[in-house]
Amino acid sequence: AKIALITGGYTGEAEVSFKSSAFVNSQLDHDKYDVYLITVTKDAWYYEDVDGQRHPISKADFTLPLHGDVLVFDLAFIMVHGVPGEDGRLQSYFDLLDIPYTSCDALTSALTMNKGYTKAILSDIPGLHLAKSVLLFESQRPEAVQMVESNLSLPYFVKPNAGGSSIGMTKVKESAQLKEAIDKAFDAENTGKQVIVEEFVSGREFSEGIFRNSKGELVVLPATEVRTTREFFDYEAKYIPGLTEEITPAELTIEQQERVARVLKEIYVRLNCRGMVRVDFFLENETDKFYFIEINTIPGQTAQSFIPQQVRAFGMKEGDFYGELIETALQ
Ligand code: DAL
Ligand code: MG
Repeated sequence: AKIALITGGYTGEAEVSFKSSAFVNSQLDHDKYDVYLITVTKDAWYYEDVDGQRHPISKADFTLPLHGDVLVFDLAFIMVHGVPGEDGRLQSYFDLLDIPYTSCDALTSALTMNKGYTKAILSDIPGLHLAKSVLLFESQRPEAVQMVESNLSLPYFVKPNAGGSSIGMTKVKESAQLKEAIDKAFDAENTGKQVIVEEFVSGREFSEGIFRNSKGELVVLPATEVRTTREFFDYEAKYIPGLTEEITPAELTIEQQERVARVLKEIYVRLNCRGMVRVDFFLENETDKFYFIEINTIPGQTAQSFIPQQVRAFGMKEGDFYGELIETALQ
């Protein structure tokens, strides 16, 4: 099959996408799949050959004119984090062109890119708790500080509502820092002009992947615990090796593992997910409750990322895992 492995994107997460796609490319079985790395940026969509020459993609039908031939792809393996690969735009485009792709569909991608709206859908799942939060819209910017302070107690996490990789995010410990944090989140590029402010949950942080295999079964991967020496699991902690200790499989009791697996499956079904997704949680120390942080429908696949660690801990080769995603999407 001819696979377009799509990388890049329009946000600050493009750098992460380049690393994710490079890792996926290095693991895929190239005897079985004919893989073309396609870069999608605001300015250009192109395939770059081994000599570094760029060949533009035809946006009208996603074909690739190459050496006098026109390549037609059988599948898009979307590895773009954030806009336009994780928020439903590329998904809609490929739907219109009838090209199968590896990720969630357009509706689920668009919905889950919005952290506040996603919480509304997941609010009554048994065993899953939601940190108190306030969703702020651009028009509410003048009264944002007051809205937060009258509804939530410190400390807060302030995030762009449609961002990723903790870009534009601040942990606010005192009231005086709130306005600047809100402005920073509103001004983060390409993240939709909405901000979510959540109450801090004191506990351990976990992240866990789930995917549907080519037999149609839902497979829950082993969880990862994140322990960082930084104030929170920010961009540096995520991508600079050594700043974070990551334990896979996480040290959870059997009961906790089963509880979080049930929750994950319920989230996957309820959001009508496809392919692999990864959900981030806090486990509150005092109450032993799992709190939902967010769902990632194009989870990172860099050498430092969780899903590859979890796949290995599960006893599977990364290349076989990516192959399963391709086979499932081609069915
Ligand atoms: N948003 C980053 C890529 C992740 O969730 O892994
Ligand atoms: Mg994310």
